[in-house]
Formats: sequence, structure tokens, C-alpha cells
Amino acid sequence: MISIKSKREIELMKESCRLAANTLKHIEDKLEIGMSTEDVNKLCHDYIIDHKAIPSCLNYHGFPKSVCTSLNEVICHGIPSEKDKLKDGDILNVDVTTYFNGFHGDTNRTFLIGNVSPEIKKLVDVTYECLLAGISVVKPGARLGDIGAIIQEMAEGHGYSVVREYCGHGIGREFHEDPQVLHYGKKGTGIELKKGMTFTIEPMINLGSRHCLLLEDDWTVVTNDGKVSAQFEHTILVTDDGAEIMTVAD
Ligand code: MF3
Ligand code: CO
Ligand code: CO
Repeated sequence: MISIKSKREIELMKESCRLAANTLKHIEDKLEIGMSTEDVNKLCHDYIIDHKAIPSCLNYHGFPKSVCTSLNEVICHGIPSEKDKLKDGDILNVDVTTYFNGFHGDTNRTFLIGNVSPEIKKLVDVTYECLLAGISVVKPGARLGDIGAIIQEMAEGHGYSVVREYCGHGIGREFHEDPQVLHYGKKGTGIELKKGMTFTIEPMINLGSRHCLLLEDDWTVVTNDGKVSAQFEHTILVTDDGAEIMTVAD
């Protein structure tokens, strides 16, 4: 069942989305070499709590921390740890989901730490372009497959690969709602988008192989070839004639 949000629900949900986006903005100038991913978790956790919201990831199906921190070859769901310290040339994805006003807001960004090689920086830039391309085709009457198709075309056009095991999702009163938003596929296929739907688009794009492995902790997803992976995520609203990004910072 895909929920259609009313005007009032959208207003409430936008507050949660804004808070999630503001959390990323809050940390962007604070990330530095030597800091641990647990330090990043604490910065986000405290900011969310100080704003009277709840970090949706904490205890979600047993996830032990408030945000996901995915370094380099970690595709997604990295667990913050004192042991993982940021190094010069790393890329770090921080995925923040907040629960506020009865709604979830979900967004992530891949940050560059120090001097990142041109090859990896380009992957990060193209991954962001993939997210924007996906958003650009969203409008009532478009199909879910249109989103995946344009993302796949852009990523593979640069010689990168698209992770298939994890995808975007409907979001609202629940963290993960229908539909699943694949980041690959065929134009003109899948369900028709309707005004008032809210879902995330969150492409995970790999420098090498698209295949992944799940680590022993049952959360951390890494590339099977050890090459880096980048990701960006926004929560999107289908409007009268297009899409609106809900996870925008002040
Ligand atoms: N925020 C992630 C997403 O984009 C989900 C994280 S679930 C967690 O859908 F349990 F790992 F936190
Ligand atoms: Co998400
Ligand atoms: Co997320």
C-alpha cells in the first residue's frame, strides 16, 4: 500500500526532513582527520535530541547507533565506532533519519575528508548527479522505473556500477514504506507516480563491481572488490507537476 500524504501531513513531515538536512549541515564543517565515526555519531545524535526529535536508526531492527557512517568501501549501514578514524583522502557517507512530528525524514551525503584523489572525487560528484537525475524525472504520471533507468544510464555511462541489493523507499509515518525505489531498471515500467507520494532516492554507486558483501556484524555492507562506493539521498515529494526535495537545510 502506497500512502498519499495530505497537505497537513506534508507540512508536518517537512519539519522532520528539514531537521535531518540541518543535521548534515551541522556536521559538515566539523568533520576532520583523526576524528572517529563514533564522534560523528555523537555530533548527530546530540543535534537531533537537542531539537526534540528521535534518531530513527537507533534500535531500528537492532541497529546500535543513531546514524549510519559508511567509509570508503562501505556501501551502506556502517556502524559508528571509536576504532574507525577519518584519514586524509577518505570518503564518508553519513546517513541521518529523524523522527519528528510523527514523521520520518531521511537524507545522506558523502563527505570528502582532506585531499581525495580526482578519481574518487569524480565518483562522488557523479553519484550526486545521479541523485539529481533521478529526481528530475519525478512527476505525476511518470513511472517508478523512469527513476532507476536514468540513474543506471548515468552511472554506467561513466563506467561505474549500481548497487542492486539496496534501494530507496516510501517514507512517512513509517521509516520504510512502499514502494521500493530501485536505482536501475527500465523506463516506462513500474507503478505510476501520484501527487502526494513521498519516497527516498538514494543511489549507491560503485567505482568497480556492483556486488556486495554483508559483514559479520550483520549490518555493514561492503563492496566485494574493496573499491570505494558513494551515495547521496533525499526524501522527495511528488507535486502537481514535478518533484520537491523535502530534505533541504535552512
Ligand atoms: N537511513 C537508511 C536508509 O536510507 C536506513 C538505515 S537503517 C539502519 O534507508 F538501521 F541501518 F539504521
Ligand atoms: Co533511506
Ligand atoms: Co537514509
